[in-house]
Amino acid sequence: MLVWILLPLLFLRRIAAEVCSNQPADIGFLIDESGSVGVANFKKNLDFVKQFVDVFDIGNSAVKISSFAFHDFMGDGFYFKCCNDKASIKSHVDDINFSSGNENFEMALAFARKNMFQSVNGARDFSLKILIFFTDGRSAVQDGGYSLHQLGVIVYAVGVGSYVDRNQLDKIATNQSYVFMASSYADLVGQVHLPTEIISDVLTNPCERSPQPCQNQGTCISTGGSRYTCLCPEGFTGHNCQTDIDDCSGVMCYNGGTCIDGLASFTCNCAEHYTGTHCGIDMCKPYPTDVVFVIDSSNSCSEEYFNITKNFIKSVTKEWEITVNNFQVAIVSYADNSYTELNFDSSMNKINFDDFVTQMNPRGGISEIHKGINHAVNILYNRNRVVSSSQVKKYIIVLSDGLPSTPSMISTVSGHRIETIAVAVGEDVSHHFLSVITGGSEKIFPYNNDRLWHYMMDALIDQSCNICKRSEEGDVLFAVDTSNGWQNLDLATKVPTIINKILSGLKLGPMNKQIALLTFASSSYLRFDFNKYNNETERQNLQRQLSSFVKTTDTNTNITALINSANALLFDSETGARVSAKKFLVVFSKYQNDVTIEESILIKTLKENVEIFVVGLDNSDEQFQVMLDIASTSFHIGIDGDMSVNSIDTYISSLLEQTNTVYCELR
Ligand SMILES: *[C@@H]1O[C@H](CO)[C@@H](O)[C@H](O)[C@H]1NC(C)=O
Ligand SMILES: *[C@@H]1O[C@H](CO)[C@@H](O)[C@H](O)[C@H]1NC(C)=O
Ligand SMILES: *[C@@H]1O[C@H](CO)[C@@H](O)[C@H](O)[C@H]1NC(C)=O
Ligand SMILES: *[C@@H]1O[C@H](CO)[C@@H](O)[C@H](O)[C@H]1NC(C)=O
Ligand SMILES: *[C@@H]1O[C@H](CO)[C@@H](O)[C@H](O)[C@H]1NC(C)=O
Repeated sequence: MLVWILLPLLFLRRIAAEVCSNQPADIGFLIDESGSVGVANFKKNLDFVKQFVDVFDIGNSAVKISSFAFHDFMGDGFYFKCCNDKASIKSHVDDINFSSGNENFEMALAFARKNMFQSVNGARDFSLKILIFFTDGRSAVQDGGYSLHQLGVIVYAVGVGSYVDRNQLDKIATNQSYVFMASSYADLVGQVHLPTEIISDVLTNPCERSPQPCQNQGTCISTGGSRYTCLCPEGFTGHNCQTDIDDCSGVMCYNGGTCIDGLASFTCNCAEHYTGTHCGIDMCKPYPTDVVFVIDSSNSCSEEYFNITKNFIKSVTKEWEITVNNFQVAIVSYADNSYTELNFDSSMNKINFDDFVTQMNPRGGISEIHKGINHAVNILYNRNRVVSSSQVKKYIIVLSDGLPSTPSMISTVSGHRIETIAVAVGEDVSHHFLSVITGGSEKIFPYNNDRLWHYMMDALIDQSCNICKRSEEGDVLFAVDTSNGWQNLDLATKVPTIINKILSGLKLGPMNKQIALLTFASSSYLRFDFNKYNNETERQNLQRQLSSFVKTTDTNTNITALINSANALLFDSETGARVSAKKFLVVFSKYQNDVTIEESILIKTLKENVEIFVVGLDNSDEQFQVMLDIASTSFHIGIDGDMSVNSIDTYISSLLEQTNTVYCELR
């Protein structure tokens, strides 16, 4: 008899020992309610369960209870998620009604595995899991408790009465020492004094157990009885600090970047060409850049050209993000002196910048270009904007005809290390002075196209982004006036010499330049079309042959004939002209006949698709006006002669620069 009185005590101590070493615990019961048990014994079994409830601390951070009756099928019962206090658990135990039938162990154990110990039903991921299985009968066992053991559930099997099969219970329990036998249900709950003191002693101060319950270096704080709280280190959460906080939660990695969770930190892995904490920086955008525009505000810049200056500034800044992290702009003007028209201002944006430019007026006076440029250099030298820990790029863009009131001072503007670009604006443009200012013809641009915009994007966007495409394709048509206004040497040597110099800078080929030649007087004559000279050998042959042009007796230069022929040649595939190529017309003439209204309409239409360069020799002012009427802009006028401000060689360099293009398209 003593044995049976001690059994529940031993049994509870063992459970208590399991629980104490690993708080919190989910303790589940499977209670046989087959016909052989009967209502009375079934009630005794339920009383036993209620004693458990009394012994343990119940709650979310302590013990939770689930209990189900079973026979052939599952009967009444409740899950771990049901209740958090002893009273409601006991009331739920009391609600478990007896029904009868045979018993099916495998079905009941599968239910424990698939339902009772699942987190959807309140089982906790990090709790100790215990199942106590009661039966007074037999049922075929295959898997037994094996799958539950695999899940980490400790299974006790309690057999009541003499009909039970010990072998079956051994298969159900975690191991043989987890099997208990009782002769009757009455023995489960005797008049035994439950060892509550021992159990609560063991359960006290969970923080002093080894290992202590708080994971990941959490600090354990005992809150009475078996209860404790964990203070989790940064980056962890959960009752036992078992959960690594998802630092990516709510984090946006832009532009296709992916978030990698770290310890109290996150990292955005950025897609190609993006960088920054959140991949918000597009490496294929222009580098942060400071630009100072230097504009001619003197009398030499007429209202027409001042308007051109303003419009050019507005268009070259198109698609620039004028913000503190991208482009910042300032404007300096020069006349007698230099003036800061607009200083760098972090609150400036593209819209108020355009508004400011629109409202600018010229000041009048002489043209002290050097003062304007030195002023811009000073502003940029004294400015140290840093964006994303890198120094910003700096540019000076001079909009000017290049003609200085004090030529001797021009050389003083060279030698600084800020990249300087010139845009030729004005009636009389000096390629010579502009290239002194910029340091080379490749940095002089006309105002009538967006080459400068593309040039800057090419320089300011990382090469690996492949945003800019280069093209050397160009169809260049030379047109030589052979009317009899020329001096003898002009057609015999000067014109062929200039053409030869230009040819020396043109690489011929299907992906490069193609050339054609026509002469004109009162009508025009095709000398050769684009099919004739197609490679470098051919170009050298042509240069050897091109010795002189024969002057005709015509007194007339027929501009209509010139324009019509140019149009036909440059846009007809029969002539070898290419659809994809840029088109250039280079005119050599004495410009003796004024351009009529009809002719200026023809020229205007041609200029929309063709860049027209004009070359003259020792021209008078009237002839200069005709050149202005024909050329795309004053940048496109070159004069070989005694005009000291110009040299035909710098003009030829500028012309050749224009025949190569770079085209950039922002994403
Ligand atoms: C058990 O029976 C009682 C009385 O018939 C009923 O109130 C209770 O809801 C039943 N319990 C369950 C779990 O069905
Ligand atoms: C039963 O399992 C427990 C815990 O894993 C172990 O300590 C004990 O030695 C085992 N007993 C037998 C009989 O295998
Ligand atoms: C210059 O622009 C202003 C404002 O758009 C206009 O009123 C004026 O006629 C223009 N002047 C010339 C010469 O184009
Ligand atoms: C250049 O073109 C000519 C005529 O089309 C051809 O005969 C010659 O072989 C070419 N030379 C080279 C180097 O391609
Ligand atoms: C100029 O050439 C055109 C043909 O291109 C012709 O129709 C016109 O009569 C010519 N004008 C003169 C004055 O020769």
